[in-house]
Amino acid sequence: MEGPGLRAGDALLILGLETSCDETAAALVEGGAVVSSVVSSQADLHARFGGVVPEVASRRHLELVLPVIEEALGERTLDDVDTVAVTQGPGLIGALLVGLSAAKALAWGRGLPLVPVNHLHGHVASLYLEPEPLEPPFLCLLASGGHTLLVDVPERGAFRPIGTTLDDAAGEAFDKGARLLGLGYPGGAEIDRLAREGDPEAFEFPVARVPGLDFSFSGVKTALLYEVRGLGAAVEARRADLAASYQRAIVRALVARTLEAAGQTGAERIAVVGGVAANSELRAALPDATAPPLALCTDNAAMIASAARYVEAILPPGYLALDAFASAL
Ligand code: KG4
Ligand code: ZN
Repeated sequence: MEGPGLRAGDALLILGLETSCDETAAALVEGGAVVSSVVSSQADLHARFGGVVPEVASRRHLELVLPVIEEALGERTLDDVDTVAVTQGPGLIGALLVGLSAAKALAWGRGLPLVPVNHLHGHVASLYLEPEPLEPPFLCLLASGGHTLLVDVPERGAFRPIGTTLDDAAGEAFDKGARLLGLGYPGGAEIDRLAREGDPEAFEFPVARVPGLDFSFSGVKTALLYEVRGLGAAVEARRADLAASYQRAIVRALVARTLEAAGQTGAERIAVVGGVAANSELRAALPDATAPPLALCTDNAAMIASAARYVEAILPPGYLALDAFASAL
């Protein structure tokens, strides 16, 4: 296999770790194939707070990180691992530090190289995994709970953002909308499910069109808030219609901007990644776009190990001083 950024030992066994938010994840990837991928979600733990509580997440990562790594190793041992890859940021700083410290300790203990991975690059790299890896160039819509970006990907490992959200991320809009509708956390999948029983044209939820290739989702959330307030006790009977209409508004905005970006950049191929790429209406609205399997849309460590194949590894002891970073900028 050849390609820019591909390192000589492409078939290395990479142990990936991901702890940037509320999923503790470990995976083994070998030459682009997922050997194992274990994700322990803390969603239930955070559900009663209606969102992720950073300190609670860090503590849970500490408890889960070693058992999750052990499960991912399965029949293999650390002796078989060639490289350790870990999410360095962006994300919750305390949560990231748990994964980064674990990765440093494992790598250092075995004299292995370590690859720090940008979580957003990881989402894009979920497209490079077997059995149907996508070849750049393509335009990628990355829509998750923390980010919503349009990224021009000229080659593997490259990442050129051309649009972003000015306020809420699309996943955040789903989560906040779900909360207003009295649905569980995380809300995207709940809205997706309920929307199937509702009429997407029942309510008009306008999404602000901002200049350029950026997004804005704070207005649509406020529109839902007013509608819910106005309906009062009648909300109960209209919940599915509200969910369907709200989802339709977010999906329309995502699709419109993505197609505009494709027109401007001349991209022939479009891909969607991140938790919101699991949304059934979004997938149906972009039938020609490539989307990873559902398990690789939401946070996982296989995508982190996949991204590591296109990043220079750091040899010991060079990585011991590495720090996590919270913000994408
Ligand atoms: O990529 P991800 O697991 O974590 C971040 O990096 O943020 O994305 C999580 C987000 C949450 O906001 C969740 O509500 C949303 O993805 N999500 C969905 C669906 N499944 C997950 N949004 C819409 N429809 C879905 N089916
Ligand atoms: Zn993510």
